[in-house]
Amino acid sequence: MDNLINNIEKLHTTALSKARVRNNLHLGTLDVVEWCQQAVEHANYIMKSGKNYYVYYNGDVITINAHSYTIITAHKINAKIRVMGESDHACLDEFLYQAIFIPKGEDVPPRNIINVPEIFIYIKNFGEEIGDLGVVAEQNGQVVGAAWTRIIHAYGHIDENIPELAISLLPEFRGYGIGAKLMKKLFKVIEENGYSQTSLSVQKDNPAVRFYQRLGYEIINDKVDHVGNGDYLMIKIL
Ligand SMILES: CC(C)(COP(=O)(O)OP(=O)(O)OC[C@H]1O[C@@H](n2cnc3c(N)ncnc32)[C@H](O)[C@@H]1OP(=O)(O)O)[C@@H](O)C(=O)NCCC(=O)NCCS
Repeated sequence: MDNLINNIEKLHTTALSKARVRNNLHLGTLDVVEWCQQAVEHANYIMKSGKNYYVYYNGDVITINAHSYTIITAHKINAKIRVMGESDHACLDEFLYQAIFIPKGEDVPPRNIINVPEIFIYIKNFGEEIGDLGVVAEQNGQVVGAAWTRIIHAYGHIDENIPELAISLLPEFRGYGIGAKLMKKLFKVIEENGYSQTSLSVQKDNPAVRFYQRLGYEIINDKVDHVGNGDYLMIKIL
């Protein structure tokens, strides 16, 4: 990524791409090359994949050829939502870690926190049990979010007919509507598999509580978990 930043002066584009970027991002008469240079400098996240750099900046994605520094296109984040395949199970470690809520002012936990049995149960041998269902969000070939269910004796367990849901996105992809799309797709998958309800457990202070309520979840219990956090048990009737 340093390569791109060090060569920022080399960014250029064609008249056609300029028009496309202006149109896709509603940039009006702004200088497209200058705007892209600023986006690179202030990017939330830069990824290199194949022959391109993908620059993520406040909900937009700019595609830049990594060899010539040509700005190819730019558009709003438009993650593709699809059913989770077996090859996606490897990324569940990452999304389980990203699902852990860190209250303001608290230290970021170490990665190996996911190995604590009460947490690891959410992904252990995923895919082998009834109720193991999932969807992922993919942006420019990278899995950037996942939502999945299991019937396990974990924080959000109600009974054997109600799969419990977990969801997270990589931090750079939060707040752009991808989570809501993942949830809606997962609701369909859950229903198709014969379930009529889904549950979850969420810390009271997590802004995701509002997100779940907007998606039709209701609080049915208010409890304190084994480490003293105040949690809501929530349920959604499909
Ligand atoms: C919760 C989450 C999956 C929502 O997906 P999203 O694509 O960001 O959500 P949308 O853009 O569709 O909706 C915005 C809502 O997401 C939540 N949200 C947005 N950014 C967030 C962030 N950085 N952290 C936690 N929640 C966030 C808020 O509830 C927001 O609603 P609000 O505007 O009323 O506050 C995602 O933000 C995330 O991964 N958060 C961290 C992990 C997490 O808390 N998972 C739930 C554990 S129970």
